[in-house]
Amino acid sequence: MKTKVKNQKTLQPKAATFNVRKVRKDFPILKQKVHGKTLVYLDNAATTQKPLAVIEAMDTYYREYNSNIHRGLHLLSEKATGAYEAVRVKVQKFLNAKESREIIFTRGTTEGINLVAQTWGRQNVGAGDEIIVTTMEHHSNIVPWQMLCGEKGAQLKVAPINDAGELMVDELKKLFTRQTKLLSITHVSNALGTINPLAEITSFAHSKGVKVLVDGAQAVPHLTADVQKMDCDFYVFSGHKVYGPTGVGVLFGRYSLLETMPPWQGGGDMILSVTFEKTIYSKPPNKFEAGTPAIAEVIGLGAALDYVAKIGLANIAAHENSLLEYGTRKLLEIPRLKLIGTAGHKAGVLSFTLGDIHPHDIGTIVDRQGVAIRVGHHCAQPVMDRFQIPATARASLALYNTRGEIDALAKAVRKAKEVFE
Ligand code: ALA
Repeated sequence: MKTKVKNQKTLQPKAATFNVRKVRKDFPILKQKVHGKTLVYLDNAATTQKPLAVIEAMDTYYREYNSNIHRGLHLLSEKATGAYEAVRVKVQKFLNAKESREIIFTRGTTEGINLVAQTWGRQNVGAGDEIIVTTMEHHSNIVPWQMLCGEKGAQLKVAPINDAGELMVDELKKLFTRQTKLLSITHVSNALGTINPLAEITSFAHSKGVKVLVDGAQAVPHLTADVQKMDCDFYVFSGHKVYGPTGVGVLFGRYSLLETMPPWQGGGDMILSVTFEKTIYSKPPNKFEAGTPAIAEVIGLGAALDYVAKIGLANIAAHENSLLEYGTRKLLEIPRLKLIGTAGHKAGVLSFTLGDIHPHDIGTIVDRQGVAIRVGHHCAQPVMDRFQIPATARASLALYNTRGEIDALAKAVRKAKEVFE
């Protein structure tokens, strides 16, 4: 079996400017040894490592201008506010949103989805209405909608995937009815690597008057996420999966929708005025950013996006796609290894099972060889149920991975095979 890997057509790598050896020097953590072996970090879908530029940007904030934002008139507060708001504009450009006020900082993808469920969702979804998700969603794009459906008496519908782990788009289209209010769909599957054809899907959903939320957590480190081209209504992602810190994420929302949505959390910084009789809320994005935000983390996210821009997403995608093809080939040379997720259009995820060996056993042996992968259901239990397996072992790629590391993975997996078969 050969999996052909294609990437977005819009991404064209620049001339040979990408040098993985050089790039690796930007990530101090990669130099270490684990269990006496050189670390091979292949758990990037769980979280990516951070370049020095990110670590230093956060360090500089704390050392030189730590202060609260939007509040003080003093110099440090002005500096911190400027740095924080500058990242909003960077994110706007990163997602090609029309306006920076469409960018809301959250704690991460999960919080972004919950925010939409509990504001737009509570306002717009009622008894008998429907929300569509797909079989390949992460739990964070299932549970908030189940909670909303439970509260409102609405129905959650699920679009199927085929044996390659691709969305069955025609089946998805059949699920839409007059009662459908929202499609919430991942851009890239964390368990399978499948890239969904979003432009086609959003265009269909909109023709039915249905709003679309896209979970971009696994997409933004690998490919261009252009919210105008996709024409989605909401797009969410996490900083830590795109070389930024944990504790910060982004919700993009179409401004006309954000304007009509009620606030989520109440508190400081989301109001224009408060009396005991009446509170007047700020306009978006502040309306959705109650309390002191993760200032250092937002600044770190800005540094991460600058770093990605400097390397070039097209270069990253080309490098990762070449690794993905190489890794697919190397792993499939191992007898009884089965790849779970063989979509024609996929990003850097290699999920697999190996005969009857439990993925946790694979993970343990592989770890002793210095190779970090994730094993389990990857917070996507419906995907495991679809393939009738309890779990997979999953190697996931980032810009700093090398062919040598793929070889180390394959060698470690063969070792696990020797031990357990
Ligand atoms: N969602 C993250 C993963 O896929 C944690 O590993």
